[in-house]
Amino acid sequence: MKLPYAEPYKIKVVEKLYRSTQEERTKWLKDANYNLFNLKSEQVFIDCLTDSGTGAMSDEQWAEMMRGDESYAGSRSFVKLKNTVQKITGYKYFLPTHQGRAAENVLFSALVKEGDIIPGNTHFDTTKGHIEFRKAHAIDCTINEAFDTSVYHPFKGNVDLKKLEKVFKENPKEKIPFIVVTITCNSAGGQPVSMENVKGISKLCKEYGIPLYFDSARFAENAYFIKKREKGYENKTIKEIALELFSYGDGMTMSAKKDGLVNMGGFIALNDEKVYKEATVYNIMFEGFITYGGMNGRDMGALAVGLDEATEFDYLESRIEQVAYLGQRLADFGVPVQQPFGGHAIFLDANKFVPTIPQEEFRAWSLAMELYIIGGIRGVEIGTILADRDPDTRENRFPELEFVRLAIPRRTYTNHHMDYIAVALKNIFDTRANAKHGYRIIDEAPIMRHFTVKMAKI
Ligand code: F0G
Repeated sequence: MKLPYAEPYKIKVVEKLYRSTQEERTKWLKDANYNLFNLKSEQVFIDCLTDSGTGAMSDEQWAEMMRGDESYAGSRSFVKLKNTVQKITGYKYFLPTHQGRAAENVLFSALVKEGDIIPGNTHFDTTKGHIEFRKAHAIDCTINEAFDTSVYHPFKGNVDLKKLEKVFKENPKEKIPFIVVTITCNSAGGQPVSMENVKGISKLCKEYGIPLYFDSARFAENAYFIKKREKGYENKTIKEIALELFSYGDGMTMSAKKDGLVNMGGFIALNDEKVYKEATVYNIMFEGFITYGGMNGRDMGALAVGLDEATEFDYLESRIEQVAYLGQRLADFGVPVQQPFGGHAIFLDANKFVPTIPQEEFRAWSLAMELYIIGGIRGVEIGTILADRDPDTRENRFPELEFVRLAIPRRTYTNHHMDYIAVALKNIFDTRANAKHGYRIIDEAPIMRHFTVKMAKI
């Protein structure tokens, strides 16, 4: 008999979870103004709000925390991290920041001006936020297949080269400071970008003289998908694949809270000395001196170890196959989910799940509320609330896809937790015909409203 799969780690520390009742959760949700961001963590049984900074560190990482060098300038931990980043990305220059959006803030301060255009594959909301905050525009050039959850495509994060070339052709070069390619593409469902596509983007960028930057939060997961799905990469290591991919670009921003396997941190890595020098000024202004950039020495040490661990095949296999396990259980129940399954999350297709709730009543948001009430499971809406208002017209933007994302923290939950989530969703799915009404907005912020929006039941 073939031996079954088992995780390549064992558990050293555990954290207790409170099992609440449906009555408790109904009250807590009302008190939270029907916004899952307002819940206390003890009010959540399984937390799939995000895979960002919520994973478990290894014993090696915790050991590195003790070795942290907290010197203001030139600390050993900084040097360790710098060397690891250079080894993994191949980029010459490196600036630590306190998290991913801080890296965006620093880099975009150096590169983005009012009226600029930054094409990409469905920019993440903080990326788009930092672009629009500077009165510039993010243009989505993702392939059309990404917007149909029932179509199989191995690389739904891919950029449509025709759409990209159209943007390059129709705008003056000075208006396009760079293109940002998000690996994996979070907002399109945690979907990877193929090496072939990256090569194509890089070629086009070189033709038009436009720099290529990666939003690399989940670059290791992207490399795993390339190894599993792209011809010619079966026998390459994750580290070889990542290094090759980065070689086609000019630089990257990183939220280390994902594939850095740490709870907090980020960085910029790049080749252009002029951009590095300019970004350095903003890094010192916003983040801290260039050898810590808002991170503790111990955190930089843990990140150096985390980057090495996250780019090992065994770890990635356990991580991505756990997400796929949840996806498969849901698919077997007939629950509509984005296919193929994402690397860090399963995306429920709310348009198919609860078409009876009008889009103006925020159907994905409504589904996320129900999942919390029924199972104490916290997901996150990736739909109309997140899409926010058009910066010019202030009208709601209705995206083609209405998702509830169930992001799976790294090395944190077991497959029993995945089973629990799957059954809670099956039960909601079986009674979905009763769902007629959703929610309305009571109060919202002018930008990135989803974090603080107050809602009421219709
Ligand atoms: N880019 C991508 C692709 C992301 O997914 C995130 C964060 C960021 C940038 C920003 O990084 O949080 O460290 O400032 N995504 C989290 C999520 C919040 O839940 O998907 P950050």
